Amino acid sequence: MPRINYEKKIAENGNLPEHVAIIMDGNGRWASRRGQPRTSGHNAGVNTVKTIVKAAARIGIKILTLYTFSIENWKRPKSEVSHIMRLLYEKTRSEVDELNSNNIRLTAMGKIDGLSVSRRRALKQAMEATKKNTGMVLNLALNYGGRTEILEAVKKIVRDIKRGLVNPRKLDEDMFAKYLYTNGMPDPDLLIRTSGERRLSNFLLWQTSYTELYVTDVLWPDFGESDFFKAVLDYQTRNRRFGEVTAS
Ligand code: IPE
Ligand code: IPE
Ligand code: MG
Repeated sequence: MPRINYEKKIAENGNLPEHVAIIMDGNGRWASRRGQPRTSGHNAGVNTVKTIVKAAARIGIKILTLYTFSIENWKRPKSEVSHIMRLLYEKTRSEVDELNSNNIRLTAMGKIDGLSVSRRRALKQAMEATKKNTGMVLNLALNYGGRTEILEAVKKIVRDIKRGLVNPRKLDEDMFAKYLYTNGMPDPDLLIRTSGERRLSNFLLWQTSYTELYVTDVLWPDFGESDFFKAVLDYQTRNRRFGEVTAS
């Protein structure tokens, strides 16, 4: 199906996912299959990010959350980590105009204070420069860990209980969710993982309780617009029951 037909079909179906989250995986394998260093896979992965961000904004996705760097990723070789961090730094600086021309607002979630000062500053500047945009929110999960997010929320709640700001008897799921990085955001409707792995890898553990999962074998650097549209079309065929009984 040509690209335009995918977009037309998605629009006709109507039930667009509001929030799409992606575990962008397979950069390393993409590179090693070409006999190249893993770093070139990450370079190629950046191009996919640009393509998918624009495609998602165009079809009307409200929030796109990208798993960009996990807390566990620090365990990788130092040279690979610094390459990813450098890419992040360069792109947050160079892509601001592109984000603005597509009316996209940049946000970030994770242990942001665990990033270096210069990277934090670049990120802050990019978020500041795009904060008035009213189109899609591009939310980067950076130095992110799902368990850490939940634990941090618990610590903040305990602090607020001690200060008398929270009545523990009134603590419910909605209030708990306000202490997460995703405060104010709807849970992801669709979670895509590329490169065939069938696991969450510590991503959005609280928020994915009723998220529709889509795994594709395509490696992230090869993941194109049509692959993204196929995932959205697949989502549009799902029957989300949330535990209820509905006519199928
Ligand atoms: C995803 O690709 C990028 C990050 C985790 C930062 P990988 O680097 O995990 O690629 P594979 O899984 O080794 O192929
Ligand atoms: C998850 O991918 C993290 C990101 C995409 C940033 P990994 O490649 O780190 O996950 P595992 O190690 O295969 O579970
Ligand atoms: Mg991986």
